[in-house]
Amino acid sequence: MLALKIAVAKEHSPYECRVALTPEGVKKCITLGYNVFVEKNAGERAGFDDDAYKASGAIVEEDLSKLFGDANITLRIQPPSAQEIAYLPPHSSLIGLLKPHMKNDELNALAREKVTSFALEMIPRITRAQSMDVLSSQSNLAGYRAVIEGAHALNRTFPMMMTPAGTIAPMRVLILGAGVAGLQAIATAKRLGAIVSAFDVRSAAKEQVESLGATFIAIEAEESGDGSGGYAKEMGDAYQKAQKLKLTDVLKTQDLVITTAQIPMKKAPILIDEDMVSVMKSGSMIIDLASETGGNCTLTKHGETVTHGGTQIYAPLNIMSAIAYDASQLFSRNNVHFITNLIKEGQIQFDDEIVKATCLTHEGAIIHPLFSEKRKGD
Ligand code: NAI
Repeated sequence: MLALKIAVAKEHSPYECRVALTPEGVKKCITLGYNVFVEKNAGERAGFDDDAYKASGAIVEEDLSKLFGDANITLRIQPPSAQEIAYLPPHSSLIGLLKPHMKNDELNALAREKVTSFALEMIPRITRAQSMDVLSSQSNLAGYRAVIEGAHALNRTFPMMMTPAGTIAPMRVLILGAGVAGLQAIATAKRLGAIVSAFDVRSAAKEQVESLGATFIAIEAEESGDGSGGYAKEMGDAYQKAQKLKLTDVLKTQDLVITTAQIPMKKAPILIDEDMVSVMKSGSMIIDLASETGGNCTLTKHGETVTHGGTQIYAPLNIMSAIAYDASQLFSRNNVHFITNLIKEGQIQFDDEIVKATCLTHEGAIIHPLFSEKRKGD
């Protein structure tokens, strides 16, 4: 059987420094029996140069028609542009964070070009899929990095400092959304010595927050925020009112607030409105990690820092790019596990639960049940 060819694309957005497969991943794929071709300078901004790829056994290619023209699998991080889709051969596979709920035109183009596409963000939250779960691996690093960026931006120290000149009080950090990113943010802020509190609507979050030594903020309301698949659901009006009252009170004392709350396939929930920002201390900061899906604060502008009163609201465009070396290593390992599960003896395992959950387009159609209806309406 002829070895299948994997092509690794360079990300052309200035805000995306990661690469989908590192030299370590190339080696693994070659061991699995693939030929690996890498677009020239694909890993440069993540810290992996072309020589490292060549040393790992990849062929570095500049000509895009040669790179993608006969590829069986293309790996990338961000969804491809229309021009990039045009390079992909019919019946080849594309794997990446394809944002199918936002990129309807691209989804249609992938179907039209008969590309079989897999969205890594659709990987189900099941034990067997943990090694492939890019949302977890990347969110974990995002939570860490947000605290580090907050530490850099604020003119305060995290720990309590007892000096001959007097004592400096520790910083107060509030984390909203205690999922993968939030829990890592809590752990990082605790390690730096802050007084940390956190809030989440899911019932499991309380124990997880407290096990990290942070205070869980409880809302007195009857509704549970547990949705399906370990995710949260949208909360009702009564809950949101109680939540606003409680959080307004907590926000008055906080120096750094990191928000991470998301609801799958929906706009991010609003947890902080303008009135709530107005009660915050001068010199405080909100870092909104949910800005790509609308943000957790009404003042958030994706990719910008907005100032309201004495508070800055910072919404990084792609925080993973600031930590691209390690983020790429984890993404690459996730990809290797995903490919290993996807293809057995040269064939895509369409009956596999993880393959089914991630496959968006195949043989000219949008086959994912969540998105196939959308196309009919075009
Ligand atoms: P996510 O990125 O969808 O959301 C982040 C957090 O925001 C979640 O904890 C969610 O409960 C919270 N949230 C949503 N609406 C909120 C609101 N109105 N107020 C406050 N918080 C709100 O979720 P993430 O971080 O990807 O994962 C959530 C959970 O999924 C994890 O904590 C874990 O229990 C589970 N999980 C399971 C995995 C597995 O079994 N393979 C892998 C990763 C996560």
